[in-house]
Amino acid sequence: MGRRKVTVIGAGNVGATTAQRIAEAGLANVVLIDIVEGLPQGKGLDLAEAAPVVGHDARIVGTNDYADTAGSDIVVVTSGLARQPGMSRDDLLAKNAGIVRSVVTAAAAASPDAILIVVTNPLDAMCHVALDASGFPRERVLGMAGVLDSARFRTFIAEELGVSVEDTHAFVLGGHGDTMVPLARYSTVAGIPITELLPPERIQALSERTANGGAEVVALLKTGSAFYAPAAAVFEMVEAILLDRKRVLPCAVLLRGEYGNRDLFVGAPVVLGAAGMERVIEIPLTADEQAAFDRSAGSVRELVDKLASLV
Ligand code: NAI
Ligand code: 2OP
Repeated sequence: MGRRKVTVIGAGNVGATTAQRIAEAGLANVVLIDIVEGLPQGKGLDLAEAAPVVGHDARIVGTNDYADTAGSDIVVVTSGLARQPGMSRDDLLAKNAGIVRSVVTAAAAASPDAILIVVTNPLDAMCHVALDASGFPRERVLGMAGVLDSARFRTFIAEELGVSVEDTHAFVLGGHGDTMVPLARYSTVAGIPITELLPPERIQALSERTANGGAEVVALLKTGSAFYAPAAAVFEMVEAILLDRKRVLPCAVLLRGEYGNRDLFVGAPVVLGAAGMERVIEIPLTADEQAAFDRSAGSVRELVDKLASLV
């Protein structure tokens, strides 16, 4: 069997950085595709020319033609507009829905067995568009958000306590929006819940910074949004799938009754392996946590309903 194949749609900040990570890890050959002529070809060539120095043999090509993406194992969807300062994730809804629908339709036709990882915002709503446009089962349509949001929470917890990020684990559930749900009880340092290590007001402050994490980077960059941590998060999901690692990671997934929600993409812990989303893991929530989860799911539902009224 030859090397696996991953298509990354959108050769912008998140797409190109994701392509670089995958190729440089030697994990898969990468096809980078964008609507802008020359952009994916140029970045693809540049990345290919880094290979001799980095020392990997993954092939990486840029294209504007979906024929080149045929037979991909994974398709990562990053095409769309990024948030600008003052722009909410929700403002992007109509524009990005059209883009995601068109690219997923083309990519799914070329790679009918692929697993889709959606990145484009507003994330949870775009997963609905991708599910619908591809006709794939829920196991093969996932959204990246929880890994990024948890990574942000981990960063802030580790910094606060002066401990390694590696020993710091965190769970952030719910939609990828201001109402996301950082779960302190299930966030730990070497297995110790942070509720034992930090006073409630500090946990509250770190949770709020996490929920505001995307906007914090946008406000600093001014001309775009985060991409290093998002690309690292996509890479972790791609690796879990291609290596069938059965990683337990928070991802946007179509709930079918889990966490009391149905037919809605929301972030929840799942087992990621060769089949894609192999299992949703349900953890018991307190009444307050469930209420926060439901609030977050409610804001995703609002966007999905808005989306339905657009078409
Ligand atoms: P970017 O602007 O750097 O790149 C987007 C690329 O998509 C551009 O190169 C553009 O030409 C391309 N594109 C637009 N329409 C296209 C089409 N029809 N077909 C193919 N390519 C097309 O943006 P960036 O920073 O890479 O972000 C991409 C998306 O990911 C945004 O929607 C952003 O909000 C989202 N995002 C989501 C995160 C998450 O946690 N889910 C984290 C970071 C970004
Ligand atoms: C983020 O959280 C923009 O959703 C993106 O950085």
